[in-house]
Amino acid sequence: MSITATASPSAAASGTGSQLEVIKNGFGANITNMSFADGHGFAVVRHTNLTDETHIELSKRFGELDDVTPYNKAGRAHRLKYNELFDVGNIAHDGSLLDPTSPHAQSNKGNALFHTDSSFNPRRAGLSLLLAHELPPAGTGGNTEFADMRAAYRDLDDDFKALLHERDFVARHSLLHSKKLAAPDFYQGSEPTEYFMSRHKLLQTHERSGRGTIYLAKHIHSLEGVPAEESQAILDRLFAHATQSKYVVNVEWQNVGDMIVWDNTCTMHRATGGEFVTKYRRDMRRTTVHDDSGLAWGLNEKSDERMGLP
Ligand code: OGA
Ligand code: MN
Repeated sequence: MSITATASPSAAASGTGSQLEVIKNGFGANITNMSFADGHGFAVVRHTNLTDETHIELSKRFGELDDVTPYNKAGRAHRLKYNELFDVGNIAHDGSLLDPTSPHAQSNKGNALFHTDSSFNPRRAGLSLLLAHELPPAGTGGNTEFADMRAAYRDLDDDFKALLHERDFVARHSLLHSKKLAAPDFYQGSEPTEYFMSRHKLLQTHERSGRGTIYLAKHIHSLEGVPAEESQAILDRLFAHATQSKYVVNVEWQNVGDMIVWDNTCTMHRATGGEFVTKYRRDMRRTTVHDDSGLAWGLNEKSDERMGLP
């Protein structure tokens, strides 16, 4: 049996694609042209054959895992067997398709906005590993998009970049803020400023690669100490810049068992919607590794508290 994985379309075109050849039912593996030096922002792994158990086992090799206990405490019944698995598909607790008016479906809408995982908690996420358990028919939506925040940082206009460095903004992240942006009617009565906000520098150095990056997400409610209008203008300008198509890759899920691994500290991602949402099952389960870099806690006090919204 052999598995062939292509690193990227451009790598394939230039003949330098990576190949993984599994020997004797997994006893050995030949890996060709897999460059770990580049510090990729995300990696697509096709046909992993992972189960819930091996997905969690693999993820633990990268560090300590986050879990869904804050969401459970906030009143959501967890459908999956393990608390280390975030349930990000469209399937209800009883196995039926999520009713679009249900709290869970309203909450899921936030995933369609560009974000990084857990930036709203005192300790942010490092890697996320998302595994497809059930997929809607091709062409009905449900892809995942990634935005390259190191490239976006590199290409900032010189003046704007200088201003951002000079003022060294602290961004305030809130889970409720992004959820309310995506589902304003449902969250009408909730006010993000009444809840904890996580504080992280907006411009950062991505430790593993040493490159500058923008730690941006629709979880950002505001820039600290900046008048609301100015704060919004700066954030709008950054989003418009960073989500241009030249920085965005749209990844199509092709098979049950496909996995995408991404680094939340130098990318943003979002779920693309589509007609599948109310028609076809999409069962996606994610593990999330706590960041262990020097910027993991941002300017937050170290605490195990996490935001949990049902
Ligand atoms: C996530 C997420 C996107 C998707 O799991 O963190 O944002 O396409 N998922 O399901
Ligand atoms: Mn996410």
